[in-house]
Amino acid sequence: MEIHNDKIKQQFDLRSSSFDRSVYWVTDPGLIAAHVRLAGAPGRSLEMCCGTGAVSRGLKAAGWDCSGIDISAGMVSEASKHIHAQVGDVANMPFPDHSFDLVVMRQAYFLLDDGPAALREVRRVLKPGGRFILSHLVPFSSIDREHLRKVHTVKQAQMRKFHTTETLSQELEENGFSVRAHDQAVVRESVTLWMREAPELSEATRQEVCSLVANSPTDYRQLRRVEVVNGEIMEDWNFVLILASPK
Ligand SMILES: C[S@@+](CC[C@H](N)C(=O)[O-])C[C@H]1O[C@@H](n2cnc3c(N)ncnc32)[C@H](O)[C@@H]1O
Repeated sequence: MEIHNDKIKQQFDLRSSSFDRSVYWVTDPGLIAAHVRLAGAPGRSLEMCCGTGAVSRGLKAAGWDCSGIDISAGMVSEASKHIHAQVGDVANMPFPDHSFDLVVMRQAYFLLDDGPAALREVRRVLKPGGRFILSHLVPFSSIDREHLRKVHTVKQAQMRKFHTTETLSQELEENGFSVRAHDQAVVRESVTLWMREAPELSEATRQEVCSLVANSPTDYRQLRRVEVVNGEIMEDWNFVLILASPK
């Protein structure tokens, strides 16, 4: 666990200053607006694994009082420019019980060694009636699932589990949450940019990821609209947003 978290800190400290521009989805207005819509009426929010706090910036603009927590000091330093952010592990958070109206976690659950511990912490810090938004990059369907799993396995050595909408919903239900609603946001992404801005990877790994997408199976390419535009490999990425509340 410590070694895993040390590798996470190392990777995201390295990426913190360029994270917002390292991939389009981080600041994509449509994706952020989808979070704000599901969040409901403003109150106190906590972004777990907040990174640079991009989702919280959207929530703040909509009137939320935003806090964040992340294990990478570099990420916290970026997020602190916008919200109250602090360094910590989401498996054991330094916040009192029942202190937030909303908890949100985007594109981080797959990195956690102990997902259930983080979900216990969500239940503990949420006020009665509070909401949890778990959002994640997932395959569109069984058509792109196995090839996307391959791409992400090569790209992210710290991935603990490859998730689909079904596995995320199941983990929530098995860990004391009721799933209330799903939303989806599709972001047109540049795989070339993603790899250009991945300093933690070797050149060979970056090339392997590009080649896996550029030479993907026909049904994957059609579903995800893979194409090369001005030398950039572009494809659609599918985000699911799951709104849940403690049972
Ligand atoms: C892919 S980034 C996503 C950042 C942010 N959630 C967003 O969507 O812009 C994953 C983040 O999770 C953080 N992280 C991973 N494991 C963590 C843990 N156990 N506790 C706190 N943060 C963690 C990383 O440091 C990194 O900032």
